[in-house]
Amino acid sequence: MQYLKLSVFTLTVTSVFFSLLSQPVSAAEDPCKPLLVMYCTACHTTQRICTALDKKDEKAWEKTIETMGEYGDIDKKTLEQVLQCVKTKESGDPAICTK
Ligand code: HEC
Repeated sequence: MQYLKLSVFTLTVTSVFFSLLSQPVSAAEDPCKPLLVMYCTACHTTQRICTALDKKDEKAWEKTIETMGEYGDIDKKTLEQVLQCVKTKESGDPAICTK
């Protein structure tokens, strides 16, 4: 009986620990990051996108993303997702500006 109580306690502690670990807090879990890495780093690093965050408004991004889509033959739906990502990012965003 004592042993059973102990293992229930251990299980509870372990599951609380793991649920804390899986909180969506880190930049690595920003869905924009894998998207940009997958489609936009074949020809240059995300550093290029990072630098442009400071300079481009939504209109400018639309043009850039369209051009990049032509360069890389990227489909329209993906480009729309990329645009949603970059236009809302602040300068220095960790999902884009860290490797
Ligand atoms: C097929 C290769 C290729 C792919 C894929 C690509 N790029 Fe580029 N990118 C380039 C080249 C070449 C340049 C520099 C020449 C230029 O500016 O047209 C560039 C330049 C840029 C610049 C800086 C120039 C500017 O107008 O500010 C940004 C920002 C950029 N790319 C974003 C992206 C994003 C976002 C994606 C993903 C959707 C992407 N790129 C995918 C080739 C590519």
